[in-house]
Amino acid sequence: MRLTLRVARYDPGADVDIRMQKYLVEWERQETVLDVLFKAWQQDPTLAFRRSCRSGICGSCAMFIQDGPRLACQTLVGDLAGDGGELTLRPLPGFRPLKDLVVDLDPFFDALKQVIPWVLTVPGHDGRVAPEDSRRIEGPATCILCGICDAGIDSGGNVRPAALVKNVRLAVDPRDALGAQRMKVTGLTEEGLQTFRQLLARICPKGIELPAVALE
Ligand code: SF4
Ligand code: FES
Repeated sequence: MRLTLRVARYDPGADVDIRMQKYLVEWERQETVLDVLFKAWQQDPTLAFRRSCRSGICGSCAMFIQDGPRLACQTLVGDLAGDGGELTLRPLPGFRPLKDLVVDLDPFFDALKQVIPWVLTVPGHDGRVAPEDSRRIEGPATCILCGICDAGIDSGGNVRPAALVKNVRLAVDPRDALGAQRMKVTGLTEEGLQTFRQLLARICPKGIELPAVALE
């Protein structure tokens, strides 16, 4: 089968704005968007994009695919286009493009740093976590920091979406000295958090479901 890939190109040294470039590629039913992007790259090695694991773990292949932000390695071409169809790839919205599909993720990681994204251990805690606590941590702990939520939804509060997910993960961790106090910084109400939960469930490629957490 054939596919026209329309890919955003941007060279900061030569382009004022993003321009779209077309690549004609062959594809098979089981192939992902990242697979066909590699075929475009074989035609044109100047094409820049991030990827590493090719299995939905590293989060680096996040981009705007057709009509929304998705992981290229986890999105099947056949779910978005048919034989002779067209697929449009753009950089993640809300981030400054650096080159082609590569964006500046510094603001994303800066926001994460602001919530102190590690466990501040309760003095003397033995480190053991009960199974029910572990189950509450598990959902938000599966975040792969892909940036798709930051690109596609609003947290409704003071911290960006992925930082909010990290904050919730730490707020429900019994080993963390700040615990539920961490939620103060979010400025969210119960309704706001519930709205975010629903938006996240719709957009997150890992299908993260946030546990209940006290808003102290
Ligand atoms: S919460 Fe989901 S969408 Fe957001 S950064 Fe983590 S894995 Fe990506
Ligand atoms: S390449 Fe790692 S998540 Fe897609």
